[in-house]
Amino acid sequence: MSKKIQIIIGTIATASLVTSCVSRGENTGWEYAPDMYYSKGYEPYNQADSNSVSPYGMSMREPVAGTVAYGKADYKYALPNSGEGYEASATQIAAPADLTDADGRGKYLYEIYCTPCHGYQGNNDGEVFKKVATLKPAWKGYTDEYIKTLPEGKIYHTLVYGKNNMGSHASVLKPVDRWRVIKYVKQLSAAAAAPAAAATTQDSTKKN
Ligand code: HEC
Repeated sequence: MSKKIQIIIGTIATASLVTSCVSRGENTGWEYAPDMYYSKGYEPYNQADSNSVSPYGMSMREPVAGTVAYGKADYKYALPNSGEGYEASATQIAAPADLTDADGRGKYLYEIYCTPCHGYQGNNDGEVFKKVATLKPAWKGYTDEYIKTLPEGKIYHTLVYGKNNMGSHASVLKPVDRWRVIKYVKQLSAAAAAPAAAATTQDSTKKN
């Protein structure tokens, strides 16, 4: 046999060996001990078979209507995503009286989620606003009277639902952290009013 043919046969043999190990199409391969892989308990997020007890064969159950999961009461937000809801938030929604921010979490989260648009000092000079100036709100920054006098409840409403070009931040900030961020926004707007005190005002986040 010529050397050339030997090489060709060798290549084909190796290729078929390699591909035969790869599972094809619907073939999931062999399982030797499925009882050990799949829990017999009802696993809501990891379901192998149709559940014979629950509706639609799901192991995951809907929560009972009108109930709130333990420890999640503050996630309940009664006001609707509408103009009326926004107006009502001004007087009906307020920060918890016992709110604390010992480790400056409000500032920390603000710098992650808000600076891309509003900038580190709240001057609306974040990278996104710099690139797409048409996204910017009418008010110049947190120094503006608008933000200084904006009720905290309305900011909370905006964080829950979003407002025009600002999206909802409800999925990234838990309720207590939304309030911490709002307090930091108010601090930035107050600090801007008295620039000399700005540095010390920011340090004081640690003590709140
Ligand atoms: C994608 C850019 C973007 C991000 C990120 C963003 N905002 Fe905004 N924000 C906006 C825009 C645009 C408006 C103006 C909305 C309007 O009134 O049209 C706005 C409005 C606001 C207002 C005024 C709300 C009101 O009720 O009028 C506050 C306060 C605010 N943002 C704070 C925050 C905070 C705090 C964060 C971070 C948790 C944040 N924003 C993240 C773009 C952004």
